[in-house]
Amino acid sequence: MKVFITRKISATGTEMLRQSGIEFTEWVEKRDISQDELIRFCQDYDGLISVGQDLIDELFLKSCRHLKVIAQMAVGYDNIDVAAAARLEIPVGNTPGVLSKATADIAFLLMLAVSRKAIFMHKRILSAEWGFYEPTDNLGIELEGKTLGIFGLGKIGFEMAKKSAAAFSMPIIYHNRRPHSQAERELGAKLVSFEELLKSSDVLSVHTALTPETRSRFDYSVFSLMKKNAIFINTARGAIHNEADLILALQENLIWGAGLDVTNPEPMLASNPLLNMPNVAVLPHIGSATEETRGAMARLAAENIIAASKGDKIPYQVKPVKS
Ligand code: GLV
Repeated sequence: MKVFITRKISATGTEMLRQSGIEFTEWVEKRDISQDELIRFCQDYDGLISVGQDLIDELFLKSCRHLKVIAQMAVGYDNIDVAAAARLEIPVGNTPGVLSKATADIAFLLMLAVSRKAIFMHKRILSAEWGFYEPTDNLGIELEGKTLGIFGLGKIGFEMAKKSAAAFSMPIIYHNRRPHSQAERELGAKLVSFEELLKSSDVLSVHTALTPETRSRFDYSVFSLMKKNAIFINTARGAIHNEADLILALQENLIWGAGLDVTNPEPMLASNPLLNMPNVAVLPHIGSATEETRGAMARLAAENIIAASKGDKIPYQVKPVKS
């Protein structure tokens, strides 16, 4: 099997491919590969490791119907038309579980950074604006005992809930299609309606997949139902919130602050007003960016490729997303 990889990935993964006798090429240019280029390259390969947000839609899949496997090196796969891949009998895999703790760390970090305006304060020192000590200046809000609302309580949301309950005794409420019995048992988490989640969360953290149902779910009308002291955190996908509406909601004090590891679009423009707001922290989509986690993700992607190269069922196969 010959595999095309759309970025340079951790040696953990490429070493596994090498040891299984699988040839591979990594895209090493410091720019996104266009879909035209990807289609062209893939003609010479029979497996693909897709890293990032490569558009794997019906056009791509029909042009590359010879592929034996697509291994997405991410947990989210909203960039892939999995239903079309299934029709063409191309198995699609992802990398679930291994990035849950690292991504929840970033949600937790953003929650704390926003609540104490940490990133904004750092920028003030950089611009020589430390200034005069005013006891009523630079005030954040404390998290102890505040209610954490999770939108989409799965593996990552559960890790975020555990950390927040342990660190700040935060009661947990969540909105899901299905109850999460472990979170209910271990953390006393309570399943609530979407409206109740908006009304009662002091911190609302998004951990759902991007689907037709969750796209732009957080818009002006939704922000206006949230608490005035609420912090909105999104470490899932930028398209789940409407960024122009989020800016308005913050400018009009409909909510207190926001922490984003995902933006819409990515990269965020340096001129985005969110970057100059005191109660906002933005990171460049680094949820899974640790040595350990990126190594584990590369390992799972390689396991999917190796299984397919032997004609076996891939171990981390995804199903089409239901809306
Ligand atoms: C990162 O965003 C992922 O989906 O793994």
